[in-house]
Parts: sequence; structure tokens; C-alpha cells
Amino acid sequence: MFATRAAPAVRASRMPLAVVAATAVAGASLYTQPSVHLDQAVNTAGADAVSRPTTIAGTFTTPSERSFIMIKPDGVNRQIVGKIISRFEERGYKLVAIKSVLPSTELAREHYSDLASKPFFGSLIKYLTSGTPVIAMVWEGKDVIRQGRNMVGATNPLQALPGSIRGDYAVSVGRNIIHASDGFESATKEIGLWFGEKEIASYTPAAWDQVMADN
Ligand code: RTP
Ligand code: MG
Repeated sequence: MFATRAAPAVRASRMPLAVVAATAVAGASLYTQPSVHLDQAVNTAGADAVSRPTTIAGTFTTPSERSFIMIKPDGVNRQIVGKIISRFEERGYKLVAIKSVLPSTELAREHYSDLASKPFFGSLIKYLTSGTPVIAMVWEGKDVIRQGRNMVGATNPLQALPGSIRGDYAVSVGRNIIHASDGFESATKEIGLWFGEKEIASYTPAAWDQVMADN
């Protein structure tokens, strides 16, 4: 893995065409779904599976669906990167992109732009840009966005179930180890923000068909 200082927030003019298109589609709310916030016990089972939009986050509700998962600086400092990656591998998900990044302030602010008005926003950005890298990843597979949120656990680790990553490794909301996309729209935004399309691999793991088979 290489530590790279990521570029400032990707402006639309510099995004790959498909990402721009995906973002535009997101704006049109063609695939808007409720965000998966475990604290609020939102259940997205049965979310729109008809339109099956396709973006840099794959095709929603198919095995090509992708989520942006990021191990935050405390996860790297705690030296549990391997354990966290193992959980996704062992569940059967496919790692299609990974890199170590020292995020710029601009990148961190863009990633969490929906939280800009929150009182903790400043400290959140400071934490993300502390100088310890984050591990940015894209994982692919059936229902990976919702399952990723389940595997990560509630935002406040004190409310996270044992067996979830936050429930097993964290006790503080400001140091909760890991980020996971909370919906197809945010996965599209986040994967496009942190990765170029050429950084995302297409391959078939040996057991893929076994893991993804429905019958
Ligand atoms: P994430 O985006 O990192 O996966 O976390 P999340 O969806 O579970 O929670 P979100 O509301 O998106 O908050 C993003 C991150 O902000 C920090 N936070 N601090 N001090 C606080 O009350 C507070 N609330 C949130 C956490 O690091 C949270 O993961
Ligand atoms: Mg979030």
C-alpha cells in the first residue's frame, strides 16, 4: 500500500464522465433510498429494486453493488486494519479498490459535507486529517451497502451491537474506527470522490459464484 496525499475535493469538471453522470442522476433522485442509520433503526429491506440504477457504485441490488468503506485514523493507529479487512473478506465480499490516504482538509470536508452544520464537524475534520492515514476501500457484493452498515454498527459505539466492528473495538463516537456508505447515492458520491474508475478492479474471486448464488 502506498501512502498518498489525496487531491483536494474532486470538482465535477475533473470527474470521470460516468461519475458526473451518476452525480447528475443522483440529483434527479432516480435511486434515492433512505440512508441506513442503525441508531434510527431504519430498515431498507424492500428498497426500490425495480429501477436498478448503475453508477460507479455498481448496479444497486445486484452482486455488483459497491460500498465505500474507510478505516479511520484511529483504526490504523490501533493496528486493526487486517482484522477489519478480514471481516469483509470472510463475509464473502470482494475488495475491488484499496489505498492508504492522508486526506487533505478539502477532501475530508467534501466527504462529510452533509454534516457541515454539525457542532462536531470541525473536530471530525481535524481527526480525519490528523496525519495518520486512512484506508480507503471499495467493497463489492450482494447488499454490500446495507450489510456494510450492519457490520460497522451504530454511529455511537456504546449503542453498537457486540459482533459489529464498532461494538467490538470502540467506545467513543468521536473515535469509531470506520466509515461505511449509508446508501446507494452516498456510495456513488464517495467512491467517485476517493477513487478514479481506473483504480477499481474487475475480477472474479475463486468462490464468487458459490458465495453469491441464490439457489
Ligand atoms: P460514518 O459516516 O463515519 O460512517 O458514520 P455514521 O454514518 O455512522 O454517522 P454520521 O452521522 O454520518 O457521522 C459521521 C461521523 O461523525 C462523527 N460524529 N461525532 N460527537 C458526535 O456527536 C458525533 N456524531 C457523529 C463520528 O465519527 C461519525 O462516524
Ligand atoms: Mg455517515
